[in-house]
Amino acid sequence: MTGKGIGFGKVILFNEHFVVYGIPAIASAIGMKTVASIEQAEKLTMVDNRKETPGYKKEKLEQQKDSLKRIIDAAGVDTKNIKILLEGDLVASSGIGASAASCVAIARALSDCFNLGFSDEKINGIAYEGEKGYHGTPSGIDNTVATYGGLVWFKKDKTNIIERLKLQKPVEIVIGNTGIVADTSRVVAGVRERKNKNPEKYNKIFNEAEKLAYDARKALGAFDLKTVGTLMNENHRLLQEIGVSCKELDFLVNLARDNGAYGAKLTGGGAGGNMIALTPRKELQEGVASAMEKEGFKVIRTTIG
Ligand code: MEV
Repeated sequence: MTGKGIGFGKVILFNEHFVVYGIPAIASAIGMKTVASIEQAEKLTMVDNRKETPGYKKEKLEQQKDSLKRIIDAAGVDTKNIKILLEGDLVASSGIGASAASCVAIARALSDCFNLGFSDEKINGIAYEGEKGYHGTPSGIDNTVATYGGLVWFKKDKTNIIERLKLQKPVEIVIGNTGIVADTSRVVAGVRERKNKNPEKYNKIFNEAEKLAYDARKALGAFDLKTVGTLMNENHRLLQEIGVSCKELDFLVNLARDNGAYGAKLTGGGAGGNMIALTPRKELQEGVASAMEKEGFKVIRTTIG
């Protein structure tokens, strides 16, 4: 018995962190994925052959083991005799949905291997349980995009609101990697602590983030990319205010803007990890990407939508 499954990488275009508290967020799958393959083995084994930001896999090893246990439990398979191999072109790195993509890929591979016929909804639910191994209290946005792909409006609620958004055509982006492996659960906990200490300040910022999500949805729908970029810049400012950026992220964000990006912001948990720049058309994408590479950073050239 063997099985195979995939999960998409993602970027969050608007409102990471705010999404944990029920503020709407917008995220997009990127053209890179994780592939999980399963075969029979003597004991439960995980072989992780994904490319990585140096240190990522070691740092996340315990979380990965915890996550795998949760996935197997949630899938309801009673096996200790499988080998899971992780591969694919999505780099294992903070902020681009690497953990969620692997959870979805493994859930799909289990469904395939054991002939379980899981729906996308079921796969998403299993991956959400797996994400708890990495994030503690995930909002569910990462596993949702890793499952369904595309451009997604997500609002955490008793039953999450998940809507597919449409872009007239795919738009080039650059993903810049600070090279810093970040612990998302710690960053999320830090926001909660500061929010509890300064409720007034944080409520004001959270209201701004909520309004921004609706403005961004409108601008994406109208394919008004200049406005989308401006709103991304605004969103980065709000993320700075809640203390989840860092000097390396700010450096890359400023570099992207100086080289003509329509907008730039951190993406995902922050405190390291990755940032994104909106760079419609190949020439602009190339200009921004090579400016980052010249400074010694690893980049991904891809599209959203
Ligand atoms: C991480 O990719 C996104 C966060 O908003 C956490 C979450 O939504 O679970 C920081």
